[in-house]
Amino acid sequence: MSATTVPEAVLPDGPTSPRVVQAVSFLMARDRTMHRLRERYGSAFTVESLNLGRMVMLADAAEVKQLFQAGPEEADTPDANLGAVLGPGSFFAITGDEHRKQRKLLTPPFHGRRLRAYESLIERETERETASWPEGRPFAVMPSTMRITLNVILQAVFGAEDAELDELRALLPHLVKLGSVLAVLPVLRRDLGGYGPGARFERHRRQYDAIVDRLIDRGNADPALAERDDVLAMLLQSRYDDGSAMSRSEVADQLLTLLAAGHETTATTLAWAVERLRRHPGVLRRLVAEGDAGGSELREATLIEVQRVRPVIEMTSRQVRAEHLRIGRWTMPRGTVVTACISLLHDDESIFPNPQVFDPDRFTGARADTSGWVPFGGGVRRCIGAAFATLEMNVVLRTLLRDFTLEPTSDPPERSHSRGVAVAPAKGGLAVVHRR
Ligand code: HEM
Repeated sequence: MSATTVPEAVLPDGPTSPRVVQAVSFLMARDRTMHRLRERYGSAFTVESLNLGRMVMLADAAEVKQLFQAGPEEADTPDANLGAVLGPGSFFAITGDEHRKQRKLLTPPFHGRRLRAYESLIERETERETASWPEGRPFAVMPSTMRITLNVILQAVFGAEDAELDELRALLPHLVKLGSVLAVLPVLRRDLGGYGPGARFERHRRQYDAIVDRLIDRGNADPALAERDDVLAMLLQSRYDDGSAMSRSEVADQLLTLLAAGHETTATTLAWAVERLRRHPGVLRRLVAEGDAGGSELREATLIEVQRVRPVIEMTSRQVRAEHLRIGRWTMPRGTVVTACISLLHDDESIFPNPQVFDPDRFTGARADTSGWVPFGGGVRRCIGAAFATLEMNVVLRTLLRDFTLEPTSDPPERSHSRGVAVAPAKGGLAVVHRR
C-alpha cells in the first residue's frame, strides 16, 4: 500500500429512508429522533440532513472528546452555519489561524476581573425587569429572561447607552430571529427586488451597521475608554500580534455574533431553571435557605444540572477538513459533518446514573465528574461566553430567589420547543410568584 492511499471510509450505520424524510423527522422532533436512532443503532449513527448533507452523529463520551480535540486542520466549523448571515468576520465564518487570532483578542473580556465587573449590572437589570412581575397568577418568565439577557449584553458587550441602547434593543431581536431562519433556509436569502425576508434582513443589517459605527466613533473619541469595562471598548484598544486593529466590519460582525450566541441561550436556560425548580420543591427550599445564608454551592450545582437535563443547544458540529479523520471506530472522509450529540451524552446512564432524575447533588460536594457534561461544547471552539453565561445565570437566579417566593407546581413538565437557535420550554417557563 503506498503512503498516499486514502483509507476506506468507515461510517456508522443509520436509517436508509430518503434524505428528505430523515431531514423532516429531524426538523420536527430533533431530540426524539436522536433518541430513537440511538436505541436502534447505538452510540453513533449516520443521518442525512438537508443543509449539512451526510452527518455522522456521535453520542459516545470518548469519541466526542476526540472530536473536540481535533485540530482545526483536521475538523473545523461546518461551511453551512450562522456565519453566512452574521457576516464574514463572525466566529462562525472564520477558520484556522484567523479563528485563533480572534479568540486571542476576544477571550480576555470574558474572564477574570472583567467578568466580575458585570455582576452589579446583571443584578440591576434583573431587579428592573422583575419590578413589574405580577403576583399570584401564572405568567411566562421567558420574555423577562430574554429582556434581561438582551439588556445585559447590550451594555456589557456593546457598551451601549441612551439612544443607541434603545435602537439596538428594538432592532436586534428581529435581526437575529430573521438571521437564524435564513441560516437554515438559505433559499429565502434571495433578494426579490427589495422584497422578501432576505431584503428585510439586509435593511435591518444596514441599520445595525450604522448604529455600531456610531458606537465605535464615540468609543474612539472617549478619553475614558481605557477605564470602560465593555467588550467593545476592549476591542477598540486591542491589537493583533502584528500591531493592527480589528476593522469596523470585523467588530460589527463579532458583536452581532456574541449577541446571537449569548442572548437566547442564556435566557432559555434560565426559563428551564424556573420550570425545573417549580417541580422540585425540596431543591427549591434548600436553594432559598442557602441564598439567604449567603451560600452558592447548591445554586451553582443546580445550574449545572439544569443544563444537563435541558441543554438548550442539543448538538454542535464540525466538518472534516483533512483527507480523512479517524475517531474511535470511524474513518470519515473530507467534507463529512461530524456532530456531537450533547443531549444524548447528558442522558447516558453510564455517565449520569438515573439520567432522567433532576438531582443537583450530583454536582455538589466531592464535585462529580463533569467530563460527559458538554453544554458549552469543547476544544478550540468551546463557547467563549461560558463563564459569562454561568455568572449571569447565577446572579439572576440568586436575585429572583432573594426577592420572590416561587410557587411549586404539580403540573406536568413543559415540553421542549425549538426556537431556531435554542430549545425552550414550550410555555416559556410558567411561574407563579409572590414578593418576599
Ligand atoms: C447558557 C448559555 C450558553 C450556552 C448553552 C452556549 C452554548 C454554546 C455552544 C454549544 C457552542 C458551540 C461550541 C462548540 O462547537 O464546541 C457555543 C459557541 C459560542 N458561544 Fe455560547 N453558549 C451560551 C452563552 C454564550 C454567551 C453569553 C456568549 C457571549 C456573550 C456566547 C458566545 C459564543 C460564541 C462567540 C461561540 C462561538 C465560539 C467559536 O466558534 O470559537 N455564548 N456556545
